[in-house]
Amino acid sequence: MIRPAQERLFGVIGQPVGHSLSPIMMNRAFEVCKLPCHYLAMEVTELEGDLEILSKVGFEGLSVTVPYKEDVMRIISNVDADAAFIGSVNTLKRFDNGWEGKNTDWLGVIRALEEVSSLWTGKRALVVGAGGASRAVVFALRKMGMDVTVANRTIERAEVIGRHFSCRVISLEALQDLKTGSWDLIVQTTSVGMRGYDETRSPVPASLFSPKVVAMDIVYTPKWTVFLRDARERGAHIIFGSEMLLYQGAHQFEWWLGIRAPIEAMREALENALEAREVMESNG
Ligand code: ATR
Repeated sequence: MIRPAQERLFGVIGQPVGHSLSPIMMNRAFEVCKLPCHYLAMEVTELEGDLEILSKVGFEGLSVTVPYKEDVMRIISNVDADAAFIGSVNTLKRFDNGWEGKNTDWLGVIRALEEVSSLWTGKRALVVGAGGASRAVVFALRKMGMDVTVANRTIERAEVIGRHFSCRVISLEALQDLKTGSWDLIVQTTSVGMRGYDETRSPVPASLFSPKVVAMDIVYTPKWTVFLRDARERGAHIIFGSEMLLYQGAHQFEWWLGIRAPIEAMREALENALEAREVMESNG
């Protein structure tokens, strides 16, 4: 067993993680809390063996990202019940008998929404997309007591989520026929709108937005996706994609260290890094 003698070690594992913003956000949090901790981005290829090595080297906590959020559940000794139900783990903490895993994505969604209002029970929510991110979002909204509908291009994937989390299902095309006022909250969880993917489109008809709607995107590059631009034009309340990233990270910090995360400092670090990236990309 090796123990780092002067610093406590944390990090993110995935493939690729070269562009991860988590080190900037977490290291800023450690700095403002004056903690002797360090957070690294690490590309991992042999998940099981590499987790053992990281444990031996003395890492205390890890964020887990694509493509390991599901695979990691089969390797570690202890997965929390909510993460098991969602079907993915994004956070590991080292205990004496191995790694314990939980999912803070759904906790991040709840915290981002609670910043806007405390009255979510019974609200009607539309979640667009049926991938891994959608599962954590749907779980959070159901926990908050919302009436959830999932829309997806491939309807069968939406139906799997509908059965698992007890919510309604609708096809992406059917959204075109619906009127303003159908939903109080619309969450965009697909890759549509992401830089370099399908940046000029939104999967949600702009007619669904009004000043009574809260619109949340999980895409954070670019900051203003077409989905969020449409929502803003129609007066909806906006929650940027970086908020979920921020709050899932805040929950990780709090689980690892047992103290409140310095949210404002983390948000500032994240926003500065995203802005710098946008400037760099617009300059080619
Ligand atoms: P993640 O785990 O990040 O959510 P994923 O499992 O690949 O990623 O899911 C991506 C989501 O984006 C899916 O809902 C996908 O729809 P399908 O299930 O029909 O594939 C959705 N998506 C990706 N590209 C899309 C597009 N061009 N139009 C509509 N939906 C799209």
